[in-house]
Amino acid sequence: MHSKIVTIVGARPQFVKAAAVSLALQKSPKISEIIVHTGQHYDSNMSDIFFSQLGLKTPDYNLNIGSGSHGQQTGRMIEAIEKILLAEKPQLLLIYGDTNSTLAGALAAAKLHIPIAHVEAGLRSFNRKMPEEINRLLSDQLADLLFCPTETAVKNLKNEGIDHHKLFLTGDVMYDAALLFKEFSNTSATILDNLALQPNDFILTTIHRAENTDDELVLRNLINNLMLVAQENTLLFPLHPRTKNALLQFDLLEKAQQAIRFIDPVSFLDMIQLEESAKLIITDSGGVQKEAYFYQTPCITVRDQTEWTELLEKGWNYLIPSTEIDKLSAIVKSRTGHRGEACHLYGQGNASQLIVDQIEHFLFK
Ligand code: UD1
Repeated sequence: MHSKIVTIVGARPQFVKAAAVSLALQKSPKISEIIVHTGQHYDSNMSDIFFSQLGLKTPDYNLNIGSGSHGQQTGRMIEAIEKILLAEKPQLLLIYGDTNSTLAGALAAAKLHIPIAHVEAGLRSFNRKMPEEINRLLSDQLADLLFCPTETAVKNLKNEGIDHHKLFLTGDVMYDAALLFKEFSNTSATILDNLALQPNDFILTTIHRAENTDDELVLRNLINNLMLVAQENTLLFPLHPRTKNALLQFDLLEKAQQAIRFIDPVSFLDMIQLEESAKLIITDSGGVQKEAYFYQTPCITVRDQTEWTELLEKGWNYLIPSTEIDKLSAIVKSRTGHRGEACHLYGQGNASQLIVDQIEHFLFK
Protein backbone atom coordinates (compact mmCIF):
# COMPACT_ATOMS: atom_id res chain seq x y z
CA MET A 1 0.00 0.00 0.00
CA HIS A 2 1.27 3.42 -0.91
CA SER A 3 -0.23 6.89 -0.56
CA LYS A 4 0.40 10.27 -2.05
CA ILE A 5 -0.01 13.50 -0.12
CA VAL A 6 0.11 17.04 -1.45
CA THR A 7 1.67 19.72 0.76
CA ILE A 8 0.81 23.38 0.22
CA VAL A 9 3.32 26.05 1.22
CA GLY A 10 3.56 29.67 0.17
CA ALA A 11 4.87 32.00 2.86
CA ARG A 12 8.15 32.11 4.74
CA PRO A 13 7.13 30.47 8.05
CA GLN A 14 5.53 27.59 6.16
CA PHE A 15 8.82 26.65 4.54
CA VAL A 16 10.35 26.18 8.00
CA LYS A 17 7.44 24.13 9.36
CA ALA A 18 7.22 22.00 6.21
CA ALA A 19 10.98 21.36 6.30
CA ALA A 20 10.64 19.75 9.74
CA VAL A 21 7.64 17.59 8.78
CA SER A 22 9.08 16.70 5.36
CA LEU A 23 12.15 15.22 7.00
CA ALA A 24 9.91 12.92 9.05
CA LEU A 25 7.77 12.08 6.00
CA GLN A 26 10.85 11.06 4.04
CA LYS A 27 11.38 8.28 6.56
CA SER A 28 7.99 6.77 5.75
CA PRO A 29 8.38 4.32 2.84
CA LYS A 30 4.60 4.23 2.39
CA ILE A 31 4.09 7.93 1.66
CA SER A 32 5.27 10.14 -1.17
CA GLU A 33 4.99 13.90 -0.83
CA ILE A 34 4.27 16.35 -3.63
CA ILE A 35 5.17 19.93 -2.67
CA VAL A 36 3.19 22.82 -4.12
CA HIS A 37 4.57 26.34 -3.62
CA THR A 38 1.83 28.89 -4.27
CA GLY A 39 4.37 31.66 -4.85
CA GLN A 40 2.75 33.91 -2.23
CA HIS A 41 6.31 34.76 -1.19
CA TYR A 42 8.53 35.04 -4.23
CA ASP A 43 11.61 37.19 -3.41
CA SER A 44 14.61 34.90 -3.19
CA ASN A 45 15.43 35.93 0.38
CA MET A 46 11.79 35.28 1.37
CA SER A 47 11.60 31.92 -0.40
CA ASP A 48 14.45 30.16 -2.32
CA ILE A 49 17.00 30.53 0.45
CA PHE A 50 14.74 28.59 2.82
CA PHE A 51 14.48 25.67 0.44
CA SER A 52 18.22 25.53 -0.20
CA GLN A 53 19.29 25.94 3.45
CA LEU A 54 16.72 23.73 5.17
CA GLY A 55 16.86 20.81 2.78
CA LEU A 56 13.22 21.15 1.74
CA LYS A 57 12.98 19.52 -1.68
CA THR A 58 12.42 21.81 -4.65
CA PRO A 59 8.65 22.24 -5.12
CA ASP A 60 7.10 19.89 -7.63
CA TYR A 61 4.85 22.78 -8.64
CA ASN A 62 5.37 26.53 -8.31
CA LEU A 63 2.16 28.40 -8.98
CA ASN A 64 3.81 31.84 -9.10
CA ILE A 65 0.67 33.51 -7.78
CA GLY A 66 2.53 36.44 -6.17
CA SER A 67 0.87 39.39 -4.49
CA GLY A 68 -2.65 40.75 -4.79
CA SER A 69 -5.72 41.60 -2.76
CA HIS A 70 -6.91 38.82 -0.45
CA GLY A 71 -9.71 37.72 -2.78
CA GLN A 72 -7.54 37.88 -5.86
CA GLN A 73 -4.58 36.07 -4.30
CA THR A 74 -6.67 33.38 -2.62
CA GLY A 75 -8.94 32.91 -5.65
CA ARG A 76 -6.04 32.40 -8.04
CA MET A 77 -4.51 29.91 -5.66
CA ILE A 78 -7.73 27.89 -5.35
CA GLU A 79 -8.03 27.62 -9.12
CA ALA A 80 -4.43 26.51 -9.58
CA ILE A 81 -4.40 24.10 -6.62
CA GLU A 82 -7.65 22.49 -7.80
CA LYS A 83 -6.05 21.62 -11.14
CA ILE A 84 -3.11 19.97 -9.41
CA LEU A 85 -5.33 18.02 -7.04
CA LEU A 86 -7.41 16.76 -9.96
CA ALA A 87 -4.28 15.63 -11.78
CA GLU A 88 -2.39 14.18 -8.82
CA LYS A 89 -5.36 12.61 -6.99
CA PRO A 90 -3.69 12.59 -3.56
CA GLN A 91 -5.10 10.71 -0.56
CA LEU A 92 -4.46 13.71 1.71
CA LEU A 93 -3.72 17.44 1.60
CA LEU A 94 -1.29 18.86 4.16
CA ILE A 95 -1.54 22.54 5.10
CA TYR A 96 0.32 24.74 7.59
CA GLY A 97 -0.54 27.73 9.73
CA ASP A 98 -2.83 30.56 8.78
CA THR A 99 -1.88 32.24 5.53
CA ASN A 100 -3.93 32.74 2.39
CA SER A 101 -2.09 29.71 0.95
CA THR A 102 -3.42 27.61 3.85
CA LEU A 103 -7.02 28.63 3.23
CA ALA A 104 -6.78 28.22 -0.55
CA GLY A 105 -5.49 24.68 -0.12
CA ALA A 106 -8.25 23.82 2.34
CA LEU A 107 -11.04 25.15 0.12
CA ALA A 108 -9.75 23.46 -3.03
CA ALA A 109 -9.33 20.07 -1.31
CA ALA A 110 -12.59 20.14 0.65
CA LYS A 111 -14.66 20.64 -2.52
CA LEU A 112 -12.91 17.66 -4.11
CA HIS A 113 -13.53 15.53 -0.99
CA ILE A 114 -9.82 15.14 -0.35
CA PRO A 115 -9.11 14.80 3.39
CA ILE A 116 -7.16 17.66 4.93
CA ALA A 117 -4.50 17.64 7.66
CA HIS A 118 -3.83 21.01 9.29
CA VAL A 119 -0.55 21.57 11.13
CA GLU A 120 -0.75 24.33 13.75
CA ALA A 121 -4.49 23.95 14.21
CA GLY A 122 -6.55 25.61 16.93
CA LEU A 123 -4.69 28.87 17.40
CA ARG A 124 -6.95 31.83 17.97
CA SER A 125 -6.46 35.53 18.57
CA PHE A 126 -10.26 36.05 18.71
CA ASN A 127 -9.74 39.06 16.48
CA ARG A 128 -11.53 38.63 13.16
CA LYS A 129 -9.98 41.80 11.78
CA MET A 130 -6.81 39.75 11.26
CA PRO A 131 -6.83 37.93 7.91
CA GLU A 132 -4.95 35.08 9.64
CA GLU A 133 -7.84 34.54 12.09
CA ILE A 134 -10.30 34.05 9.21
CA ASN A 135 -7.86 31.66 7.53
CA ARG A 136 -7.46 29.63 10.73
CA LEU A 137 -11.16 29.40 11.56
CA LEU A 138 -12.12 28.18 8.11
CA SER A 139 -9.17 25.82 7.63
CA ASP A 140 -9.87 24.18 10.98
CA GLN A 141 -13.55 23.73 10.10
CA LEU A 142 -12.60 21.92 6.91
CA ALA A 143 -9.77 19.78 8.28
CA ASP A 144 -10.07 16.07 9.07
CA LEU A 145 -6.85 15.85 11.09
CA LEU A 146 -6.05 18.83 13.32
CA PHE A 147 -2.55 18.86 14.76
CA CYS A 148 -2.46 21.19 17.75
CA PRO A 149 0.77 22.67 19.11
CA THR A 150 -0.63 23.46 22.59
CA GLU A 151 -3.33 22.47 25.08
CA THR A 152 -4.88 25.90 24.55
CA ALA A 153 -5.28 25.11 20.86
CA VAL A 154 -7.06 21.82 21.69
CA LYS A 155 -9.37 23.67 24.06
CA ASN A 156 -10.19 26.32 21.46
CA LEU A 157 -11.23 23.66 18.94
CA LYS A 158 -13.33 21.76 21.47
CA ASN A 159 -15.07 25.03 22.34
CA GLU A 160 -15.91 25.44 18.65
CA GLY A 161 -17.56 22.01 18.67
CA ILE A 162 -14.97 20.24 16.53
CA ASP A 163 -15.10 16.45 16.98
CA HIS A 164 -12.41 15.52 19.48
CA HIS A 165 -11.50 12.40 17.48
CA LYS A 166 -9.98 14.71 14.88
CA LEU A 167 -7.73 16.53 17.38
CA PHE A 168 -4.14 15.57 18.18
CA LEU A 169 -1.89 17.35 20.63
CA THR A 170 1.51 16.92 19.01
CA GLY A 171 3.56 19.89 20.22
CA ASP A 172 4.88 22.52 17.89
CA VAL A 173 6.78 21.74 14.68
CA MET A 174 8.54 25.10 15.11
CA TYR A 175 10.17 23.65 18.22
CA ASP A 176 11.31 20.66 16.15
CA ALA A 177 12.75 23.10 13.62
CA ALA A 178 14.46 25.14 16.34
CA LEU A 179 16.19 22.00 17.65
CA LEU A 180 16.99 20.65 14.20
CA PHE A 181 18.53 23.80 12.82
CA LYS A 182 20.12 25.43 15.88
CA GLU A 183 23.33 23.45 15.70
CA PHE A 184 23.51 24.01 11.98
CA SER A 185 23.09 27.73 12.61
CA ASN A 186 25.78 27.75 15.30
CA THR A 187 28.31 26.26 12.90
CA SER A 188 27.34 28.06 9.71
CA ALA A 189 25.62 31.40 10.39
CA THR A 190 27.90 34.38 9.97
CA ILE A 191 25.48 37.26 10.27
CA LEU A 192 26.82 38.63 13.57
CA ASP A 193 30.30 38.89 12.10
CA ASN A 194 28.99 40.26 8.83
CA LEU A 195 27.12 43.01 10.65
CA ALA A 196 29.91 43.53 13.21
CA LEU A 197 27.47 42.94 16.10
CA GLN A 198 28.35 41.64 19.54
CA PRO A 199 26.09 39.14 21.35
CA ASN A 200 23.78 40.81 23.89
CA ASP A 201 24.52 44.23 22.52
CA PHE A 202 21.53 44.79 20.23
CA ILE A 203 17.75 44.59 20.07
CA LEU A 204 16.21 42.58 17.22
CA THR A 205 12.97 43.91 15.71
CA THR A 206 10.60 42.40 13.15
CA ILE A 207 7.28 44.00 12.21
CA HIS A 208 5.13 42.86 9.30
CA ARG A 209 1.51 42.26 10.39
CA ALA A 210 -1.14 44.14 8.44
CA GLU A 211 -2.54 45.66 11.65
CA ASN A 212 0.81 47.37 12.30
CA THR A 213 1.81 48.31 8.76
CA ASP A 214 -1.33 49.28 6.86
CA ASP A 215 -2.59 52.24 8.91
CA GLU A 216 -0.36 55.29 8.56
CA LEU A 217 -0.92 56.61 12.08
CA VAL A 218 -0.29 53.23 13.73
CA LEU A 219 2.92 52.69 11.76
CA ARG A 220 4.12 56.27 12.33
CA ASN A 221 3.63 55.96 16.12
CA LEU A 222 5.34 52.61 16.16
CA ILE A 223 8.34 53.87 14.19
CA ASN A 224 8.64 57.00 16.35
CA ASN A 225 8.74 54.84 19.46
CA LEU A 226 11.22 52.41 17.94
CA MET A 227 13.42 55.42 17.12
CA LEU A 228 13.28 56.44 20.78
CA VAL A 229 14.43 52.96 21.76
CA ALA A 230 17.18 53.21 19.13
CA GLN A 231 18.60 56.31 20.85
CA GLU A 232 19.90 54.06 23.61
CA ASN A 233 20.25 50.72 21.84
CA THR A 234 21.41 49.28 18.54
CA LEU A 235 18.09 48.35 16.92
CA LEU A 236 18.47 45.81 14.13
CA PHE A 237 15.41 45.45 11.89
CA PRO A 238 15.27 42.85 9.07
CA LEU A 239 12.72 44.52 6.85
CA HIS A 240 9.79 42.48 5.52
CA PRO A 241 8.68 43.65 2.03
CA ARG A 242 5.20 44.57 3.28
CA THR A 243 6.70 46.87 5.91
CA LYS A 244 9.22 48.35 3.50
CA ASN A 245 6.43 49.18 1.05
CA ALA A 246 4.38 50.81 3.82
CA LEU A 247 7.35 52.86 5.09
CA LEU A 248 8.00 54.08 1.56
CA GLN A 249 4.34 54.81 0.93
CA PHE A 250 4.00 56.89 4.11
CA ASP A 251 7.40 58.54 3.58
CA LEU A 252 8.79 57.18 6.85
CA LEU A 253 11.78 55.16 5.70
CA GLU A 254 14.34 57.92 5.24
CA LYS A 255 13.79 59.37 8.71
CA ALA A 256 13.66 55.95 10.39
CA GLN A 257 16.93 54.90 8.74
CA GLN A 258 18.75 57.60 10.68
CA ALA A 259 18.14 55.72 13.93
CA ILE A 260 17.17 52.16 13.07
CA ARG A 261 19.52 49.70 11.41
CA PHE A 262 17.44 48.13 8.64
CA ILE A 263 18.68 45.08 6.79
CA ASP A 264 17.11 42.86 4.11
CA PRO A 265 15.15 39.79 5.28
CA VAL A 266 17.54 37.11 6.50
CA SER A 267 17.67 33.32 6.15
CA PHE A 268 16.32 31.06 8.90
CA LEU A 269 19.82 30.07 10.05
CA ASP A 270 20.87 33.72 10.32
CA MET A 271 17.62 34.53 12.11
CA ILE A 272 18.35 31.86 14.72
CA GLN A 273 21.74 33.42 15.37
CA LEU A 274 20.20 36.89 15.70
CA GLU A 275 17.42 35.67 18.02
CA GLU A 276 19.87 33.80 20.21
CA SER A 277 22.27 36.72 20.46
CA ALA A 278 19.87 39.64 20.87
CA LYS A 279 19.43 41.08 24.36
CA LEU A 280 15.75 41.64 23.59
CA ILE A 281 13.32 41.02 20.73
CA ILE A 282 10.50 43.35 19.66
CA THR A 283 8.17 41.65 17.18
CA ASP A 284 4.66 41.11 15.89
CA SER A 285 5.43 37.69 14.41
CA GLY A 286 3.91 34.54 15.90
CA GLY A 287 6.97 32.45 15.09
CA VAL A 288 9.49 34.92 16.44
CA GLN A 289 7.63 35.13 19.79
CA LYS A 290 8.18 31.41 20.25
CA GLU A 291 11.73 31.38 18.96
CA ALA A 292 12.57 34.09 21.49
CA TYR A 293 11.44 31.66 24.20
CA PHE A 294 13.26 28.69 22.60
CA TYR A 295 16.49 30.72 22.78
CA GLN A 296 15.63 32.31 26.17
CA THR A 297 15.61 35.87 24.88
CA PRO A 298 13.08 38.28 26.45
CA CYS A 299 10.40 39.39 24.02
CA ILE A 300 7.94 42.26 23.61
CA THR A 301 5.09 41.70 21.15
CA VAL A 302 3.49 44.70 19.49
CA ARG A 303 -0.08 43.46 19.12
CA ASP A 304 -3.45 43.61 20.85
CA GLN A 305 -3.64 39.82 21.29
CA THR A 306 -1.47 36.80 20.76
CA GLU A 307 -2.36 33.21 19.93
CA TRP A 308 0.55 32.00 22.10
CA THR A 309 -0.94 33.00 25.45
CA GLU A 310 1.17 30.59 27.52
CA LEU A 311 4.26 32.71 26.79
CA LEU A 312 2.57 35.66 28.48
CA GLU A 313 1.51 33.55 31.46
CA LYS A 314 5.04 32.22 31.97
CA GLY A 315 6.58 35.67 31.63
CA TRP A 316 8.58 35.06 28.43
CA ASN A 317 6.59 37.51 26.37
CA TYR A 318 4.98 40.88 27.08
CA LEU A 319 2.15 42.30 24.99
CA ILE A 320 1.94 45.97 24.08
CA PRO A 321 -1.12 47.07 22.07
CA SER A 322 -0.76 49.83 19.48
CA THR A 323 -2.83 52.19 21.66
CA GLU A 324 -0.13 51.97 24.36
CA ILE A 325 2.88 52.13 22.09
CA ASP A 326 4.12 55.32 23.80
CA LYS A 327 5.17 53.10 26.71
CA LEU A 328 7.53 51.07 24.51
CA SER A 329 10.74 52.73 25.67
CA ALA A 330 9.92 52.20 29.36
CA ILE A 331 8.88 48.60 28.76
CA VAL A 332 12.10 47.91 26.85
CA LYS A 333 14.04 49.04 29.93
CA SER A 334 12.05 46.88 32.32
CA ARG A 335 12.06 43.76 30.13
CA THR A 336 15.73 43.80 29.15
CA GLY A 337 17.40 41.05 31.19
CA HIS A 338 13.99 39.73 32.28
CA ARG A 339 13.62 35.94 32.36
CA GLY A 340 10.40 33.97 32.42
CA GLU A 341 9.62 30.81 34.36
CA ALA A 342 11.48 27.63 33.45
CA CYS A 343 8.94 25.46 31.57
CA HIS A 344 8.38 23.15 28.58
CA LEU A 345 5.54 24.55 26.53
CA TYR A 346 5.70 23.18 23.01
CA GLY A 347 6.19 19.43 23.23
CA GLN A 348 9.25 17.25 23.12
CA GLY A 349 10.67 18.29 19.75
CA ASN A 350 9.03 15.26 18.11
CA ALA A 351 5.85 16.93 16.83
CA SER A 352 6.77 16.15 13.20
CA GLN A 353 7.14 12.44 13.89
CA LEU A 354 3.86 12.34 15.86
CA ILE A 355 2.15 14.05 12.93
CA VAL A 356 3.52 11.53 10.44
CA ASP A 357 2.47 8.65 12.73
CA GLN A 358 -1.09 9.97 12.82
CA ILE A 359 -1.14 10.54 9.06
CA GLU A 360 -0.01 6.93 8.52
CA HIS A 361 -2.68 5.70 10.90
CA PHE A 362 -5.32 7.73 9.04
CA LEU A 363 -4.21 6.54 5.60
CA PHE A 364 -3.53 2.89 6.34
CA LYS A 365 -5.82 2.03 9.26
C1 UD1 B 1 1.87 36.53 5.04
C2 UD1 B 1 0.77 35.95 5.95
C3 UD1 B 1 1.16 36.19 7.41
C4 UD1 B 1 2.54 35.64 7.71
C5 UD1 B 1 3.52 36.25 6.73
C6 UD1 B 1 4.92 35.75 6.95
C7 UD1 B 1 -1.48 36.09 4.97
C8 UD1 B 1 -2.81 36.72 5.04
N1 UD1 B 1 -0.52 36.61 5.75
O1 UD1 B 1 1.88 37.94 5.26
O2 UD1 B 1 0.22 35.53 8.24
O3 UD1 B 1 2.89 35.98 9.03
O4 UD1 B 1 3.11 35.95 5.40
O5 UD1 B 1 5.85 36.56 6.29
O6 UD1 B 1 -1.32 35.12 4.25
N2 UD1 B 1 6.05 40.91 -0.89
C9 UD1 B 1 7.20 41.03 -1.65
N3 UD1 B 1 7.94 39.90 -1.85
C10 UD1 B 1 7.61 38.70 -1.34
C11 UD1 B 1 6.43 38.60 -0.58
C12 UD1 B 1 5.66 39.70 -0.36
O7 UD1 B 1 7.55 42.09 -2.12
O8 UD1 B 1 8.36 37.73 -1.54
C13 UD1 B 1 5.24 42.12 -0.62
C14 UD1 B 1 4.15 42.37 -1.61
O9 UD1 B 1 4.09 43.73 -1.86
C15 UD1 B 1 2.90 41.95 -0.88
C16 UD1 B 1 3.25 42.22 0.57
O10 UD1 B 1 4.65 42.01 0.66
O11 UD1 B 1 1.79 42.65 -1.31
C17 UD1 B 1 2.54 41.32 1.53
O12 UD1 B 1 2.77 39.95 1.19
P1 UD1 B 1 1.66 38.83 1.48
O13 UD1 B 1 2.19 37.50 1.14
O14 UD1 B 1 0.38 39.21 0.88
O15 UD1 B 1 1.47 38.90 3.05
P2 UD1 B 1 2.55 38.95 4.21
O16 UD1 B 1 2.50 40.29 4.81
O17 UD1 B 1 3.89 38.43 3.81
